[in-house]
Amino acid sequence: MDRQQLQPLQGMTDLTAPEIALWQTLEEKARRLLDLYGFEEIRTPVLERTDVFTHSLGETTDVVSKEMYSFHDQGGREICLRPEGTAGVVRHVAGGGPEALESRLFYIGPMFRAEKPQAGRKRQFHQVGVEIFGPANPYADAECIALQAHLLAEWGLADCAVHVNTRGLPEDQKPVTDGLRDALRPHMNELCEDCRRRFDVNVLRTLDCKQPGCRTLVEALPEITSFMGEAARRHFGKVRDLLGPMGVTASVQPRLVRGFDYYIHTVWEITHTALGAQDALSGGGRYVIDFGKKAVEGVGFAIGMERIVAVLTAAGTAPAAHARPHGVWIISLGEEAVRENMVLARQLREKGVKCGMDLGMRGMKAQMRAANRSGAPWAVIRGADELAKSVCVLKDMKTGDQAELALTDLLTRLTAAG
Ligand code: HAM
Repeated sequence: MDRQQLQPLQGMTDLTAPEIALWQTLEEKARRLLDLYGFEEIRTPVLERTDVFTHSLGETTDVVSKEMYSFHDQGGREICLRPEGTAGVVRHVAGGGPEALESRLFYIGPMFRAEKPQAGRKRQFHQVGVEIFGPANPYADAECIALQAHLLAEWGLADCAVHVNTRGLPEDQKPVTDGLRDALRPHMNELCEDCRRRFDVNVLRTLDCKQPGCRTLVEALPEITSFMGEAARRHFGKVRDLLGPMGVTASVQPRLVRGFDYYIHTVWEITHTALGAQDALSGGGRYVIDFGKKAVEGVGFAIGMERIVAVLTAAGTAPAAHARPHGVWIISLGEEAVRENMVLARQLREKGVKCGMDLGMRGMKAQMRAANRSGAPWAVIRGADELAKSVCVLKDMKTGDQAELALTDLLTRLTAAG
């Protein structure tokens, strides 16, 4: 394979140290906070039946129509790499007992979308997401938005903008669709080719078209809430009233509809100016997905971890990632010493001492260099002489002082030193 072939696929990344330490810190903080809010973790499979997503997100959405990694397995079933987390979690909840319909679940993991890669847009990316099932009311929506802001603040991202809107109830969909079509019909020729198709199949999608011509037209459209009934407006008003006292400043973004068909009522996005064109750190909303057994209603959000890492890194506020230095480096002279030292290393690690050793049978000089590189304050040296005398040499790497110790004394000394 040439250099190019040794790279991951386009839009995918190998995550390595030291950056991975930052990811772990962020994930740990998320787990701690989500536990305080009573969430439990769920790990759904990365592969699902394709119809789990086509059915939930909607056939005409960009993700389903253009971006799914979908293929047939050996049994001829159409399966795909999950493009998002909500549909799989709802599949689980729909198949579970009544307690599942009252649960609070979170997930952390990779998602896959065959998008055109660019800054902030990957083909494999990672989300931290939450879903709340049970209370179908504005209080749950407000708690979910406030939780999201709380989590971003925990990560050191207080200066984000929260945009909210409502998609209304299922019965509002027809008046909204009719209203938008009526307003757009006189401008059909000015719409981009995609939006002319969207006009018939899913006119709501024209609201998030990125083409400048369509954006200008969309800005002049009536707000979709003007086509909605009283119940939808009341729900949305309540959510907005609840946010202020919870410390969230949210601005209403009347064109925000989000990219999936499962949304009803409240939808929101949190953006950050440091991100440029792909400025959404996270998004969420209330939704209903009906897999046939029973319709499941929930509210949730997902945060894009690559974008969080990008903002923290650009701001220089990412916590510094330092690997823990070794406590001991073990040097073995000869094969018999390697064998014995592997046992010693195991004993030290069982006692919580981070230790390393060379398995390459290299000479003393090379192993001493490795010991220096490891940053360990102590080196243990054993060769045939030490084995014959049942001792080890303990070397203080700072002063260079050496002493011969019996194995039990060595273990006591190093364990005490940590
Ligand atoms: P989404 O808006 O499609 O929503 O994705 C949520 C976040 O994932 C985005 O705001 C962004 O930060 C990140 N993201 C999405 N696509 C990419 C990409 N190609 N590269 C890098 N980051 C990306 C959902 O996925 C919904 N399931 C959220 C939800 C949960 N709604 C209700 N519950």
